[in-house]
Amino acid sequence: MPPKIFYVTTPIYYVNDVPHIGHAYTTILADVLARYRRGLGQEVFFLTGTDEHGQKAQDAAAKRGISPQQHCDELQQRFRDAWVRLNVRQDDFVRTTEPRHERVVTAALADLWKKGEIYAGDYEGWYHVSDEVFVTEAEIEEKGIDRTNLKRVSERNYFFKMGAYRERLVAAIESGRLKIVPTSRRNEVLGFLAKGLGDLCISRPKSRLSWGIPLPFDAEYVTYVWFDALLNYASVPGLYFDAERFARTWPADVHLMGKDILTTHSVYWPTMLMAMGVELPRSILAHGWWTLAGVKMSKSLGNAIDPMGYATTYGPDALRWFLMREMAVGQDAEFSDARFCARYDADLGNEWGNLLSRTLTMIGKFSDGKVPEPEHEFGGPTEPRELAGLLLTALPGLVDEVAFHRIGEEVQNLLRAGNRLVDATQPWKLAKDPAKAGVLRDVLYTLAETCRIAAAALSPILPEKGPAALRQLGSAPVADLRLALAWGGLVPGTVTAKGDVLFPRIETKPS
Ligand code: MSP
Repeated sequence: MPPKIFYVTTPIYYVNDVPHIGHAYTTILADVLARYRRGLGQEVFFLTGTDEHGQKAQDAAAKRGISPQQHCDELQQRFRDAWVRLNVRQDDFVRTTEPRHERVVTAALADLWKKGEIYAGDYEGWYHVSDEVFVTEAEIEEKGIDRTNLKRVSERNYFFKMGAYRERLVAAIESGRLKIVPTSRRNEVLGFLAKGLGDLCISRPKSRLSWGIPLPFDAEYVTYVWFDALLNYASVPGLYFDAERFARTWPADVHLMGKDILTTHSVYWPTMLMAMGVELPRSILAHGWWTLAGVKMSKSLGNAIDPMGYATTYGPDALRWFLMREMAVGQDAEFSDARFCARYDADLGNEWGNLLSRTLTMIGKFSDGKVPEPEHEFGGPTEPRELAGLLLTALPGLVDEVAFHRIGEEVQNLLRAGNRLVDATQPWKLAKDPAKAGVLRDVLYTLAETCRIAAAALSPILPEKGPAALRQLGSAPVADLRLALAWGGLVPGTVTAKGDVLFPRIETKPS
């Protein structure tokens, strides 16, 4: 049996939304994780997609006077286009209206119905239209929910016996079999479960909502959109229909998401899986929010930032760098123009672009444009080499922790050591003294290696600029990250090719 594939997912986004920085963040996070994992030799399956059923899509289509399917067909393309432009390379893009997904939802419902996990009952209460959830009076008070968004409903519905799984779920979380990261979120879920767990309403009467997957045991009802959407994680890798593929892919290694949808993922989803007799995902990682002047960015608040403006002005890599470097996974982070520009100019332009350009200029002048043969085996100065060694050792653990901001930081430490070396040795002075020729070759080799290793280490975050920097150094990308990060990869005599400035200064700000 071949080894299990590393399986990472993003939430599937509501098709009605315009992709904004929040969606871009989770998706780029998954993309970067997938690229690092591949670099560390693992086979990866990275899934994203769109969540297309439910009230909002139905209402929006009705407003436009077109069918919900046509509406979704058009809108999902915006997400696909956004990911292409941001250099996201998902392995699959799922739409919940696809037959390959719908048939699994139908099979899951039939399975749970047969097992007696679903029953019919009466429901009376408040329904939150834009969030597509039922809410209790206590939640309305506690969260200060705007009552204009609420609809009073009283109807017969179908329920999943979720409450019966409370103890088993608590045990799975406490034992670490289902890891919830960060710990604060794990405690939040355990706190929620300590208050007791009710059953989950999983149907909507067709009279109220027709845009959904019909229940296989009652044609008058469609499936609740969250029950439908969560199943995407298992439908694509083959639940019920492709045992071999499912065994190789499932369980998901990490479901990535924002903290807004932690409960659905860490309570509804695992209990659904338990009832189906399917293994739980290995981990759930809830990241924080991107805020604007301290307020969560969202379409409904009208303060969402269009990622494309930044990607167009500064290039996709600059946006990817900002998102990965600025947010410590798990915490909130503020998106501001000033922070963005500071990271672009300081981290990318000055620390990295500048070191590369100075190094290549000096190699051009003092070494005939070729990587010099160092006097000592690995070059003389030791600080960059030691820092590169630390980076190589730390990287797999940082990838396990999804701590890409820390990888960025470690690489910056390395680059700073390179820049310090230029200032301390002043190679243009060494070049004037024939007795220092060996020292000069050591310094230039060390600088070139520093740039190469930084480029290789950052390539998963910067898939355009990383390889572009390597090309200028006359080096090709190496798929195996551990090999790529080992000191001494540059072959003396290699012809370098100083090219365009990697991160040019930009005066115009995105509109
Ligand atoms: N369709 C559901 C998810 C179903 S998954 C089975 C949904 N979609 S959504 O379009 O609202 O996307 C929510 C996700 O977008 C969040 O979990 C998060 O990943 C991302 N973000 C949306 N706004 C965000 C911020 N302001 N900051 C960070 N991420 C945010 O919920």
